[in-house]
Amino acid sequence: MRRSEIIRGEVRKDASGRVYGEDEYRVAVLLKNVTTAYPRSKDPALKNVSISIKKGSLSLVTGPNGAGKTTLLELILGFLRPLSGTVRVLGLEMPKHARKVRLMSSYLMQDFMKPPTETYTVEQVVSMGLAAFKGPVRPLSEREKELIKRAIKMVGLEGLEEKPIGILSGGQQQRAFLARVIVRQPKLILLDEPFSSLDREGRMEISMLINDIRKHLNSTVIVVSHDISPIIDYVDKVIEMKDGCVVSENDLHDSSIY
Ligand SMILES: Nc1ncnc2c1ncn2[C@@H]1O[C@H](COP(=O)(O)OP(=O)(O)OP(=O)(O)O)[C@@H](O)[C@H]1O
Ligand SMILES: [Mg+2]
Repeated sequence: MRRSEIIRGEVRKDASGRVYGEDEYRVAVLLKNVTTAYPRSKDPALKNVSISIKKGSLSLVTGPNGAGKTTLLELILGFLRPLSGTVRVLGLEMPKHARKVRLMSSYLMQDFMKPPTETYTVEQVVSMGLAAFKGPVRPLSEREKELIKRAIKMVGLEGLEEKPIGILSGGQQQRAFLARVIVRQPKLILLDEPFSSLDREGRMEISMLINDIRKHLNSTVIVVSHDISPIIDYVDKVIEMKDGCVVSENDLHDSSIY
């Protein structure tokens, strides 16, 4: 459906369940008054949260420990369901369409760093990013091999394909995991604390790489980080959280694609 076909204010649904309307066309993630709690927990982990994230933008979610940053990402991917309010991701109602949304997304979880004994090679780690499409048995197709090669090149790890991930430096490991994130060419990228265990220079390098990835793939990127400084120059929106609430949502500039 072309944008010109969308009449202001009108919302339409296509056969796959995708919702179209002017807002939905431009917005990758839309939360309206969402409250959610973990199973068997009596206190809500998110309280009345509303946010709107434009397609192709880079957003930073920040706030102290326990603020609800990781919970927000889990809600966006449909691992948690709202007790009240609505969640719409890539034009799809959540958590009803969680499977479709996850196939179009990549999530780098907090504390992903691997111990030194990890024997998977860089190439194997990156190929895991295609597992949801490939299944465990089928060997890699030529196209998939090409995607893996391109992802490794994009993060600057050419020549290290056969190295076990455990012997790489923190920055190199982070690059390998970013390659795993991008190999499936996701429309939505969620990165939870991608700077942990890096020094200042490493943080700057990874920030630049995240911005390059976003531009290259035209993806929407949400980064969760305590440390704002390395990435702030590339960020379109800063969402500050505390005690399960969004305490501020500030647009800095707009480099989104629409
Ligand atoms: N699996 C879980 N079950 C029950 N409660 C949880 C679970 N995970 C998180 N919580 C609670 O939800 C709240 C928000 O946690 P969350 O992990 O989202 O915080 P965060 O902002 O990501 O913190 P950090 O900066 O430490 O990563 C906290 O009160 C936490 O105790
Ligand atoms: Mg967290």
